[in-house]
Amino acid sequence: MIIAVDGPAASGKGTIARALAKHYGLPHLDTGLLYRAVALTVMRLGLDPAVEADAVAACDFDDRLLAEAELRSDPVGQVASIVSAHPLVRASLLQRQRRFAGQPGGAVLDGRDIGTVIAPQADAKLFVKASAQVRARRRYAELHAADPSLGFDKVLADIRARDARDSGRATAPLAQAPDAAPLDTSALSIEAAIARAIEIVEAQRRRGGR
Ligand code: CDP
Ligand code: CDP
Repeated sequence: MIIAVDGPAASGKGTIARALAKHYGLPHLDTGLLYRAVALTVMRLGLDPAVEADAVAACDFDDRLLAEAELRSDPVGQVASIVSAHPLVRASLLQRQRRFAGQPGGAVLDGRDIGTVIAPQADAKLFVKASAQVRARRRYAELHAADPSLGFDKVLADIRARDARDSGRATAPLAQAPDAAPLDTSALSIEAAIARAIEIVEAQRRRGGR
């Protein structure tokens, strides 16, 4: 069983994808980490994320980066959304994600284009969303402890800038697949969001996939 979980920054898709993976005993891939690893490599090599050839050169990143805490920082997220708009960067990361999705038994993947591009044949598809205010509050709570100089308004502005870039790009933009079920977590606790996600996946499975 392949489960695709997409949605904007801090919508709760990672939390839901991890919980679904645990519930169904499936491996999980947070695909945003791949784009973040490209971004961090670009930053460390002093390359320009807006230049496609620079970003492509960083796609051959060291896998040990995937375990680094800095990967989750706000600046890395912003640069990730710049490198991820390049078609050749997306093409370079495509096979790795498809291989993960194609494991015997299946997998859960979360990102922006799992249900639309990486695994359009997925057995269940969720599009997780929440208002920008709620998402900024969540991200602020996560990031403020590590960087007390980071203000709420900056986090909100960054979320909006990333939403616009991710939805506006020509290649694999953030978009709800026509056969994905929307899940708005704005007013849901983590437990309630997970319970609802499992209900949706069960309903999609009963319908024989989507
Ligand atoms: O965790 P958060 O939602 O903040 O971001 P992320 O999932 O780690 O993704 C960081 C950036 O990578 C996003 O803003 C997207 O630009 C890009 N991304 C993408 O283009 N496609 C994916 N499947 C996953 C992430
Ligand atoms: O993966 P994504 O960036 O979409 O979001 P996440 O990392 O799953 O969640 C972002 C933050 O919001 C985390 O600190 C979650 O614990 C929190 N969250 C929440 O408060 N309520 C939810 N229903 C889901 C997540």
